[in-house]
Amino acid sequence: MDNLFDLTGKAALVTGASRGIGRAIARALAEAGCDLALNARSPESLKEVSEEILRLGRKSLIIAGDVSEEDQVTGFVKKAQEAFGKIDVLVNNAGIWEGTYFLRLPKSDWDKMLNVNLTGAYLVAKAVGRVMLKQRSGKIINISSVLGLRGSPQAVAYCVTKGGVIQMTRVMAIELGPAGIQVNCLAPGLIATDMTREYTQDEAAMKEYLARVPLRRYGRPEELAGSVVFLASKASDLMTGQVIVVDGGESLV
Ligand SMILES: NC(=O)c1ccc[n+]([C@@H]2O[C@H](COP(=O)([O-])OP(=O)(O)OC[C@H]3O[C@@H](n4cnc5c(N)ncnc54)[C@H](OP(=O)(O)O)[C@@H]3O)[C@@H](O)[C@H]2O)c1
Repeated sequence: MDNLFDLTGKAALVTGASRGIGRAIARALAEAGCDLALNARSPESLKEVSEEILRLGRKSLIIAGDVSEEDQVTGFVKKAQEAFGKIDVLVNNAGIWEGTYFLRLPKSDWDKMLNVNLTGAYLVAKAVGRVMLKQRSGKIINISSVLGLRGSPQAVAYCVTKGGVIQMTRVMAIELGPAGIQVNCLAPGLIATDMTREYTQDEAAMKEYLARVPLRRYGRPEELAGSVVFLASKASDLMTGQVIVVDGGESLV
């Protein structure tokens, strides 16, 4: 069984790897054996996680750049491909959140969220997909959210982007499947990170959340490690275009 999840010698690219979920995913992939190309907007923010990867005995490459800027994406994907000679795994994780009622949401915030969460994932998948097509192999893991599966107040743009990521996953899976490339999606529920700090520190909001969610708690970034390693590994070779929900049951209620 161990071999099913072994990623020794694989090369992975993780966007938004400087903190939170992306950082935990990068560490989990390195623990499973991957070398890592680490992306976020600023190279300084990636130094700590890069050192962690090196301490685990893996190679680490910092590829800073904005996922919503096509030129930057082309540049940093090329850098990763040249450094490792291949890209076996892509985790499209970079994302942002701006929450308010839709009647009050400035168009600039709507645009920003679509540009990063949806267009960014599309641009990186396109650049890496071309590398994987030449290899005739690869695993793309898009990070959606339970808010891609259901509605929520004050989250119109976020819900649209995360629902879009799920639909994008399905189309990419259909188009890349014949080349031996699997594309799947992970939809986490509430996870404690910088993105959700304001919400998890809001006592009234947490009282309502914890009473509603079946497991009566929210998650830690490390709790997504197993699902990501599964989706990156041989264990998921027959699976494509699917959504794994890891949410303490949040999406059930
Ligand atoms: N936390 C949750 O409850 C939760 C639940 C479901 C899904 N998610 C999704 O999981 C992903 C990670 O969320 P998180 O909670 O870990 O957020 P986070 O702590 O705010 O981290 C976001 C990461 O994305 C990077 N990033 C933001 N904009 C970027 C851009 N334009 N180009 C490249 N990198 C960019 C950030 O680095 P820089 O700012 O340095 O660029 C950072 O590394 C997101 O897609 C989020 O929507 C989160």
